[in-house]
Order: sequence, then C-alpha cells, then structure tokens
Amino acid sequence: MGVTLTWLGHGGWSMNDGERDILLDPFLAECPTANVAAADIAADFILVSHGHFDHVADVSAIANRTGATVVAIFEIAQWLANNHQVKNTIGMNIGGGVSLPFGHVKMTQAFHSSQLPDGSYGGEPAGFLVTVGDKRIYFACDTGLFSDMQLIGSVGIELAVLPIGDLFTMGPEDSLAAIRLIKPKRVAPAHYNTWPPIEQDAAAWARQVREQTASEPIVPAVGESIEL
Ligand code: NI
Ligand code: MN
Repeated sequence: MGVTLTWLGHGGWSMNDGERDILLDPFLAECPTANVAAADIAADFILVSHGHFDHVADVSAIANRTGATVVAIFEIAQWLANNHQVKNTIGMNIGGGVSLPFGHVKMTQAFHSSQLPDGSYGGEPAGFLVTVGDKRIYFACDTGLFSDMQLIGSVGIELAVLPIGDLFTMGPEDSLAAIRLIKPKRVAPAHYNTWPPIEQDAAAWARQVREQTASEPIVPAVGESIEL
C-alpha cells in the first residue's frame, strides 16, 4: 500500500493512502500560495502541530464540513471541541502515539511556541511521526534544530519534511544538520516562500542536500505530489 503526499503550500500537506485523506496543518483561505480552497478539500483526519494562525486557521471549518477527526495536542483538541464545535477530536501529547485506520501517529517534540489565535494556551508545539503501511514519514513541523532528531530518525524514515523558511523555524543551513541527524531516505522542504520574510531558494537547498547529505531531496511545487 502506497501513500501520496501533496504539498498544500506553507506547512500544509495532504496524504492519501488510497482510501482516506489525512491533512496536516492545512492553511488555505489566507495563504497567499495555496491553490485549493478550504471549502473544497477532502479530509478524514486532520493533524495539527501547534496553535499558530498559519496552522489552525482553517481546521475547524474543514473539520465541521467534512466530519474529519482532528488529532492535536490535548489543549488544542479541547479548544477546537469547546470553542469551535469540532465533533471528533483526539487529544494527545508529546511522546504518545495513536493507531488510526490509516496507520499510526506519534507526536514528537518541536522547539517553537504555540499560542492559539484568541490568546488561549495551545500546549506545547509538536511534530508528527506518521506510519502508513511500512512507510514512516517524519513531519518536523515548526521547529528549530535539536539533536534528538537523531533519535526520531533512528527508526528509519522514508521521508522527512523539514521547515527551511528561517525566521520562525530552522533555515536551510540548520535543515542540513537536521538531515544528517535524521538520515531520511528522502527529504522535502516546507514552511517557506509563503511570504517575503521566509523566502528561500529551494533549488539551491536541494543542491546542498545532494552535496552534503546522503538523502534525496524532493521539492514539490504547491499542488504537486510525492509518491511513497
Ligand atoms: Ni508556528
Ligand atoms: Mn508556522
């Protein structure tokens, strides 16, 4: 069983395992680079990494239209249920995992912040280790570099998705160090070129990945897919 990952722009991804659509941090309505509308996207599950606007803005609208189950840290799951009437939520926490119909989702640490748009406490920011079939995908989500990425990578990662935008997350240089720690088979960039402050040259990044690491860089355009 394969899995198809489509970049939605910014930190957003859609995964399809042949049966279900699993979104991660969809940011569509107010994302300048998104090319799909929040009103049109399919979702069975939505993973949310942290509480910032560019990760939660569209989540309740998509979840309430589709009935998708939202998977997030406990505080965000509770906020979506209580303040935005999201019916199906799974609250979890760092280090915990949950088995779902498409596979397994483990919440990993991230070094970032996580206030919700209305000022509510969003718990800790997170990343996700998603296992679909025999493929492990590590979404670092919004984070700086940390050495325990080596531990996350030790299980064998088919694809790592790393932020390269700099300013709010690690930039291209630290992402190279992250790749050397995680040792994924393939690596894709995210959280860049959404706005001028996080503009990056992804082709130059890919050249450096090829020269300086053993991982294969994949740079999808918004709307393009990666097959695993
Ligand atoms: Ni953020
Ligand atoms: Mn962000």
